[in-house]
Amino acid sequence: MNDSTPIAPAGETAAERPYEHRELMSFVRRSSRLDKRLQKAWDNYADTYLLDLPQVGGRELSVAPDFRFDRAFTERTWGNGNPLIVEIGTGQGENIVAAAQNNPETNFLALEVYRPGVAHALLKAGKYELSNLRVAEVNAPDLMKVCESGLLEEVWTFFPDPWPKTRHHKRRIVQDALAAEVHRALREGGLWRIATDIEDYALHVHEVMDGRNDFENAGTITVSLPTEHVSKGTADTAATLPHADFTESERFDGRVLTNFEKKGIDAGRVIHDFSYRAR
Ligand SMILES: C[S@@+](CC[C@H](N)C(=O)[O-])C[C@H]1O[C@@H](n2cnc3c(N)ncnc32)[C@H](O)[C@@H]1O
Repeated sequence: MNDSTPIAPAGETAAERPYEHRELMSFVRRSSRLDKRLQKAWDNYADTYLLDLPQVGGRELSVAPDFRFDRAFTERTWGNGNPLIVEIGTGQGENIVAAAQNNPETNFLALEVYRPGVAHALLKAGKYELSNLRVAEVNAPDLMKVCESGLLEEVWTFFPDPWPKTRHHKRRIVQDALAAEVHRALREGGLWRIATDIEDYALHVHEVMDGRNDFENAGTITVSLPTEHVSKGTADTAATLPHADFTESERFDGRVLTNFEKKGIDAGRVIHDFSYRAR
């Protein structure tokens, strides 16, 4: 067993396993301690901006599988039926807050598991008095699973955690199972936008997404990438590996420069943008 294999008692089938044992998580729970400023933001703004979604027992931050994130819920929550964009792994909310400011006729939902990140997003939402943004502290794939079919306009996953070790690639959040849920949640023609500064993750995205019949790669530019994976410690060998051409997208102009992207650029990494259209 490697360190990413779910633990289950011997003889137990997948169907018998408790919900929390079935999947690998794309995150490791870090401290949820807030400093004074973020605690104050939480106290001031959680009532307005934080979605209190029902959680299942036994695993932190998972959404109860019988909860329905449907049109009735979103219309009640946002007070209108405007198009809804969901960001998976919002970090400190820099992108989604800017997008919500610039697009008042669109609703936005930020999903994040790191409490200080959630608190930052609440702080900014409150500071700009945004009425079209909500934030949920949940495991994002769980929310996708309970989302009504065709409800979402777009899903964004920008700079997902890279999980650079080979044995951890299975923890990368872009996976077949999530792609299927995102596809179901998107309206026909809706987009899943992804960006990464990690070349190996770019290859991973192509491997997961390009062969799917339910998504069309809506990119317009050609990018050369190694066709074999590297791991932590072997990334330097990537240039010597065989390469092939892949289709990617121009930089999404609805994305602001976050700290994560800036760090990647400062380290000399190339940013890869993807847009996949739901068929
Ligand atoms: C590298 S950061 C990028 C943050 C932001 N998108 C940006 O570009 O600045 C990835 C974020 O995804 C969050 N994350 C990882 N797995 C998640 C999950 N299953 N559900 C929600 N958020 C998740 C992490 O806590 C982290 O804040």
